[in-house]
Amino acid sequence: MVWGAIATWRMAHDGVVKALDLLERKQHSGDAVEELIKTVEDYPYYKSVGYGGLPNAEGILEMDAAFMDGDSFKIGAVAGITDVSNPISVARKLSDDKFNSFRVGEGATRYAMTEGFHRKNMLTERAHKIWEKRLKEIHENNLNPYNGHDTVGAITLDQMGSMTAGTSSSGLFMKKPGRVGDSPLSGSGFYVDSQIGGATATGLGEDLMKGCLSYEIVRLMGEGLSPQAACDKAVYEFHDKLTARYGKAGAFSLIAMNKAGEWGVATNVEFTFSVGNDKEAPQIFIANMGENHTTKIESITQEWLDAYEKRIKAPIE
Ligand code: GLY
Repeated sequence: MVWGAIATWRMAHDGVVKALDLLERKQHSGDAVEELIKTVEDYPYYKSVGYGGLPNAEGILEMDAAFMDGDSFKIGAVAGITDVSNPISVARKLSDDKFNSFRVGEGATRYAMTEGFHRKNMLTERAHKIWEKRLKEIHENNLNPYNGHDTVGAITLDQMGSMTAGTSSSGLFMKKPGRVGDSPLSGSGFYVDSQIGGATATGLGEDLMKGCLSYEIVRLMGEGLSPQAACDKAVYEFHDKLTARYGKAGAFSLIAMNKAGEWGVATNVEFTFSVGNDKEAPQIFIANMGENHTTKIESITQEWLDAYEKRIKAPIE
């Protein structure tokens, strides 16, 4: 029997390890994806997801998340939810509802409270300090306010052949209140069909949603492309289209896994990810855009990991 999990960024690695452990013990792909993403949401030093995520321009932490079941195509999603410890769990719960399964803002938060989800102030002191510092820099130096949009996106495959996709993000740092990225949008931030495979995205939501790249990658895998070939084709052809029309493309990276547990990634920026399956132990890789619409994928070095650890925990001056 095959199983596997893949997720965006180095931050997802501990969650991938937990998900693979569940999958090895024949747990459902939905449980595995939820556990994976909760692990990222709960860790205070990740600045773009859940607890410790960076707030919007008014200092409020608004979060987006989605959950999709690849057997039934059921989707649950939240956007601009606040004060809830695990947006992915709220999205999963909503995926059981035939109607009202994508909630935004106050309606999403109220739904979570009514359903008994854990209420928590998700804005850490550290995230608040980073926000204050950035606000000052923007005003003093007339800087572009927006940076940072690293979503955790994940796909899991279980031994019963079911696949699930999930995403969670605090979105673009300094976004305007009510701004929603690609992460809760089906086809843009995520898509999964257990009979084919799944894909999820991270990067600049405003550009990702122009291309519906997660759906496109699943569609290409359905036509027989390997996950790597599907990612390369969808991501680099769209990167070229945006570049032709705007002179440049926002940063984005996509990951995919098919129903055989094979995986692929493509990116137009340096991108780390974690992946494992029944044959390969979980491992962190670093990817970069290669030549002629290919992706260069290398194992991460200890030096890179040490520098990352230092960077995410550095004191805020
Ligand atoms: N990809 C996350 C966002 O743009 O909000």
